[in-house]
Amino acid sequence: MADAFDLVVIGAGPGGYECAIRAAQLGMKVACVEKRDKLGGTCLNIGCIPSKALLHASELFAEAGHAFADMGINVGTPTIDLKKLLGFKDEAVDGNTKGIEFLFKKNKIEWVKGEGVIKAPGRVQVGERVLETKNIVIATGSDVARLPGIEIDEKQIVSSTGALALGQVPARLLVIGGGVIGLELGSVWGRLGSKVTVVEYLDAILPGMDGEVAKNFQRILKKQGFDFKLGSKVTKVEKTKAGLKVSVEPAQGGAAQVIEADVVLVAVGRVAYTQGLGLENAGVVTDKRGRIEVDAHLKTNVDGIYAIGDVIAGPMLAHKAMEEGVMVAERLGGVAGHVNYDVIPGVVYTSPEVAAVGKTEEQLKAEGVEYNSGKFPFTANGRAKSNKQTDGFVKILADKKTDRVLGVHIIGVNAGEMIAEACIAMEFGASSEDIARTCHAHPTLSEAVKEAALAVTGAPIHM
Ligand code: NAI
Repeated sequence: MADAFDLVVIGAGPGGYECAIRAAQLGMKVACVEKRDKLGGTCLNIGCIPSKALLHASELFAEAGHAFADMGINVGTPTIDLKKLLGFKDEAVDGNTKGIEFLFKKNKIEWVKGEGVIKAPGRVQVGERVLETKNIVIATGSDVARLPGIEIDEKQIVSSTGALALGQVPARLLVIGGGVIGLELGSVWGRLGSKVTVVEYLDAILPGMDGEVAKNFQRILKKQGFDFKLGSKVTKVEKTKAGLKVSVEPAQGGAAQVIEADVVLVAVGRVAYTQGLGLENAGVVTDKRGRIEVDAHLKTNVDGIYAIGDVIAGPMLAHKAMEEGVMVAERLGGVAGHVNYDVIPGVVYTSPEVAAVGKTEEQLKAEGVEYNSGKFPFTANGRAKSNKQTDGFVKILADKKTDRVLGVHIIGVNAGEMIAEACIAMEFGASSEDIARTCHAHPTLSEAVKEAALAVTGAPIHM
């Protein structure tokens, strides 16, 4: 006998679990199929959460080593107990994944353990069991993108998964890809003592980010000890007794240079994960990059089958998937769900952090939109000065005619928290003047947002 549900969600990452919870809140009978032995998907198990635990701890370690003495705090030379540090990270994962288990129980969502295969619209098989359901949401996420000829063994040649669990601090870490993962995990191991070299195919790090931000941020990372080989590609990684020999060539071809490393991190993006899902059984269509095609309501070409998160087009971000999961659940539950794709923030959790929402200058130029730009550096912000954390700036881009805020870009300590103010402002269609006239507490780093807004059409006070 088949079990009957209103909704079966396949995948319990942030998109899937939020979809399941919201649907249950709206009265649906919900099952969530997950094959991993913990809920939370990539984000909670091998992504956002463990990496943030390591970023937090390694940042404190670096501060204890470099900044404490300047403040008159003498703790001697700090040392790292790597096993304990990795345990701290594992505890963060456990706490968060168990939290989702609790929420599933609270909302009476059945976690069906195993691999879900779509047999037909309204029919999902998990092992021996067949789930009948009115609707299916595919939330199977993404997997690590690989490079031909470079085999990831998760020991010496690692993906982000292996880089979260290295048994010792590598003396030399070579990162392939100057995107978010490369810079975040490069920061972790760099702070713990690795010499980090980043090989990036393009001429700039953080593709898609505002060009001025990327350039400035690269300068900051260089000061921290990062080495960059931009416009370069890795063609071969050779394992030898003395370590890894990495062949690096100019992106457009040319003579190779060999760089020695102890660990290579492959961080060249992620690809939609639909393996074994049975899309062909239901006739669900994917695009050239293997991503499931959906309409504006995130419905696939098959009625009753929806897809959200990394498995469809758009930024591969947990919070984007969460918004999409909630939207689908709400529409199925008869509530007006909506995702505003113009206001999806992106954060790089390095030190300082980089955060952005809305358009970059490059995008506005390409779209022929006339805009004003206002910038304010943290060197002129009282709180940043007193904390001696003055790297970075806030930049606000606003429409030249209407003054409506179109993009906000921040490099700075706590940028990831500060960007929320920009998101709210943009969600409400604020002008730069609205932000500039809003009272900000003093002394806070967020005053730099107000000052950048003042700089859009007038002049900041503290510059
Ligand atoms: P990414 O797309 O951010 O960066 C990959 C980089 O690798 C790009 O700069 C690309 O030009 C470069 N690249 C590609 N092929 C190359 C080659 N053969 N040689 C050298 N460079 C090459 O991807 P990443 O960092 O792997 O992250 C995967 C996804 O996970 C991204 O969508 C990212 O947004 C997301 N993520 C988000 C985080 C956050 O929000 N804080 C944290 C970690 C990941």
